Amino acid sequence: MVQLSTAVCLLGGLFLIAPVLMAPTHSSMCTPLRTINDSLSHRRRYMKHNFPIEYTIKVHNREIFRLSNISRMKLRTEGLNDLVLQRLWFQVYQGVLKKILWVLPTRHPSRPYTAELERRFKDAQAVFMQSHPAEVFQEDLPEKIQDIWDSLTEKPENMPESSWRFATPKSLLDNLCRTMYCLFSECFSNADVQEDYSHQQQR
Ligand SMILES: *[C@@H]1O[C@H](CO)[C@@H](O)[C@H](O)[C@H]1NC(C)=O
Ligand SMILES: *[C@@H]1O[C@H](CO)[C@@H](O)[C@H](O)[C@H]1NC(C)=O
Repeated sequence: MVQLSTAVCLLGGLFLIAPVLMAPTHSSMCTPLRTINDSLSHRRRYMKHNFPIEYTIKVHNREIFRLSNISRMKLRTEGLNDLVLQRLWFQVYQGVLKKILWVLPTRHPSRPYTAELERRFKDAQAVFMQSHPAEVFQEDLPEKIQDIWDSLTEKPENMPESSWRFATPKSLLDNLCRTMYCLFSECFSNADVQEDYSHQQQR
């Protein structure tokens, strides 16, 4: 089942309103995603103010997953639909949230926030899995996406030094938020994107 829909993805300050072929997001997804969105609205405080200036976390390069990656993948990958990108999104960001949580000592003031965000993310992931038939998740991924998937699930000790990156926790959550608006655009609006940008740019 495929429908013509309008995806609103903000790329480098430009609104691209492009009609794309996509599998409709199951409406049951919107409630848990909006709960994540509520948490994300406090990310500046918990992911920036509570950390030393320029504090970074070591992540896998594939965990840097931005809007630009989505548009590149859409251009270059055959057999790519939004469902595949949504699966990849969950895979990437479950790892990212785990890594942020991992660096936070038990008494860090951002720990409860991050734990709650991770819980909400897992809830959304569970709804995502339930809202599609199980066979969907057994389908082969396009080759390029499978390669990314494999490197994300590779044991860290098997990963070459060159595959690591350093990123601030805030930038990781900015990416999480903006790619969520893009990949689940039926649950969000243009206004959400604009509101987020103006809010996050305040100092
Ligand atoms: C998402 O969060 C922003 C605050 O960052 C809020 O303004 C917006 O209304 C929320 N969107 C939805 C659909 O819940
Ligand atoms: C996104 O693009 C950057 C390069 O701009 C790359 O390092 C990263 O691995 C890409 N992310 C994914 C998920 O492919």
